[in-house]
Amino acid sequence: MLLKGRHDFRSDTITEPTEAMRRAMYEAEVGDSARGDDPTVAALEEEAAALLGKEAAMLVPSGTMANLVSLLTWVRRGEEVIAEHRAHVVMSEAGSLGGVVGAMVRTIVTPDGILRPEQVEAAVRAPSVLSPRTALLCIENTHNYAGGTVWSVEQVRAAAEAAHRHDVPVHMDGARIFNAAVALGVPAAELAAPVDSLMFCLSKGLSAPVGSLVLGTRAFVEEARKRRQMVGGAMRQAGVLAAAGLVAIRTMVERLAEDHQRARRLAQQLVGVPGIEVGPEPPSNMVMVDVRGTGLSAAEFGERLASGHNVWTLAVAPTVLRFVTHRHVDDSDVDQAARAIRAVAGSRRIGA
Ligand SMILES: Cc1ncc(COP(=O)(O)O)c(C=O)c1O
Repeated sequence: MLLKGRHDFRSDTITEPTEAMRRAMYEAEVGDSARGDDPTVAALEEEAAALLGKEAAMLVPSGTMANLVSLLTWVRRGEEVIAEHRAHVVMSEAGSLGGVVGAMVRTIVTPDGILRPEQVEAAVRAPSVLSPRTALLCIENTHNYAGGTVWSVEQVRAAAEAAHRHDVPVHMDGARIFNAAVALGVPAAELAAPVDSLMFCLSKGLSAPVGSLVLGTRAFVEEARKRRQMVGGAMRQAGVLAAAGLVAIRTMVERLAEDHQRARRLAQQLVGVPGIEVGPEPPSNMVMVDVRGTGLSAAEFGERLASGHNVWTLAVAPTVLRFVTHRHVDDSDVDQAARAIRAVAGSRRIGA
C-alpha cells in the first residue's frame, strides 16, 4: 500500500521499485547510452531480446514512446494502420498516430479487443491509386480497455498470418505481454514469435520505475534507434533505469499470477450485487465493473468510492470503472474494495 489507508486500483503503473531495484540502481555501472556506451542498458537490451526471442531490443523511456518509434519506423505519412477501436495507440497516446506519424487509422470494433483474421483481411486496402497503403497491423496483448483480455498464441498467429498474406507487417503493443504469458502459461517468446515488432513495459505490473523495450529484427531496431533520436528519447546514463529493468524481467514476472488471482477474487465478490455488472472471469489483472444499473455514472461512482471508502479506481467509459490489481494491493484491499462497491451500489438504490 502506498499512501496509508488508500486502496489504489487505478493502475499497475503506480507500483514502486522494489528494494532490490533501488539497490541495483544505486550500484549500476553506467555510460553514455545514446552513444551505445552504457553496459547496463546493453545488458538489459540483450536479455530482453533473448527473453522475447527477437534479434534485438532498444530501451525507451515509456510505452507510449515505444509504440511511437515503432510506428514511425513502419509507417510513412498518409499510410494506414489497422488497430482495434479501443487500442491504446488510438485512445491514449494523444493522437500521435495522426499528429506525429501522420498516419490514417482504420479501426476495427471487437467485443474483446481480439482481431479475427477475417476482420484483418477485410481491413487491408486493395492496392489503388486512390487509397492509403495499409502499412501496419497493430495489436494489443493484453488488451487494456477491453479489460485485460489475453490473445492466445493461436489468435496472435492467425491475425499475423492474415496481415502477412498481404505483406502487411505486425506490431504488438505488449505493454503487459508478461501478464498474457503468465495467464496462458506459455513463454512470452511464443506470443512474440508471429509478430514483426513489439514493445513491452517494465513500469507496469513488473514494478520498475521507468522504461519500455522495443524489439524486432536487428535491422528494425537499428532504424528505430534513429526514430528514437528524432523524438528525443535517446538517454545518457540510463543504466540506472536499466538496472531496475533487469531486476524486473528476472524476478517480477512469475508473481503476476497473484495479481490475476486477486482480480478473480474481486470479480467473484461482485457477482449478484444489484446494479453492478462484471464481465466473465477476469482474464488477467483487470476487472471491468459496469455501474449503469445504479443510475450513477462511472465518475460519480468512483468519486463515492474514493471519498467514502478510500478505494481508488478509474472510469474508462461513461458507466465502466476499471480495477487493476498489482503488487501494492493484497487480499484485504480487494475485500475492502468489494465491500465499498456493495455499499455505494446499495446506498444508491435505497436513496434512488
Ligand atoms: C496497452 C498499453 N500500451 C501502451 C501504454 C503506454 O505506456 P506508458 O504509460 O509507459 O507510456 C499503456 C499504458 O498504460 C498501455 O496500457
